[in-house]
Amino acid sequence: MIKKCLFPAAGYGTRFLPATKATPKEMLPVLTKPLIQYGVEEALSANIDTMAIVTGRGKRAIEDHFDISYELEHQIKGTSKEHYLTEIRDVITKCTFSYTRQIEMKGLGHAILCGETLIGNEPFAVILADDLCDNTCNEGGVLSQMVKLYEKYKCSIVAIEEVPKDETQKYGVIAGTLEEEGVYKVFDMVEKPDPKNTPSNLAIIGRYILTPDIFDILKATKPGKGGEIQITDALLEQSKQGKVMAYKFKGDRFDCGSIDGFVKATNYFYEKESNI
Ligand code: G1P
Repeated sequence: MIKKCLFPAAGYGTRFLPATKATPKEMLPVLTKPLIQYGVEEALSANIDTMAIVTGRGKRAIEDHFDISYELEHQIKGTSKEHYLTEIRDVITKCTFSYTRQIEMKGLGHAILCGETLIGNEPFAVILADDLCDNTCNEGGVLSQMVKLYEKYKCSIVAIEEVPKDETQKYGVIAGTLEEEGVYKVFDMVEKPDPKNTPSNLAIIGRYILTPDIFDILKATKPGKGGEIQITDALLEQSKQGKVMAYKFKGDRFDCGSIDGFVKATNYFYEKESNI
């Protein structure tokens, strides 16, 4: 069973400066909810209740968000505004949060490795909060779908989506053999390939299930694209040692790491809420 979800949340969010100068990018709100809360709720709906968050300097607002604010509780209790706190109270009650810091920015693979101390020797999920996902089918959120698949394959799984071929340089890209509808056994994986040399247009999005042997592989992984330790490189190695699957998830994804995706997500959720 997958019980823990790791959130790499140490990045600077430079694309959103100056908003992210003193506010973590994971705390930017889509409507009234910070990005990271969407991620935590997605994990919770997959029956994962232990959140392991890899933070960095200037990220304390994340810890405060998932804690009680006694002053606020005192002010709002019994007023007509109390309902605004319902969702976050629910999350705080149902989940456990633990934190560690990534001291140096050495890439996503390095951030995940920093989380080893919080995860231990068990399979775990990873959510990149700036990939905001919404479920559009009755199979639940992306992570719920992946957890079900994990029960069958018992190996690392990455979520993938078809992207236009000229956008492959923004993503990790896989090549695989089709095992069943929407599920591929990975035989190649490249971090941000040039569209001219990409193995496919199946791009990895920010949802992973990883088996704990990934930590030892990450320790031996040399810096790759951009001089950073890439989870994509470690997963390629893992696919050679054993098995890694890629899963074409059902649902919508918004790249909230870009202004364009962030605005699209805001409009989408606004429309959705207006129709409730
Ligand atoms: C990271 C990963 C990349 C993946 C992407 C998904 O890149 O390195 O393989 O496709 O997340 O959002 P980043 O967006 O952090 O540059």
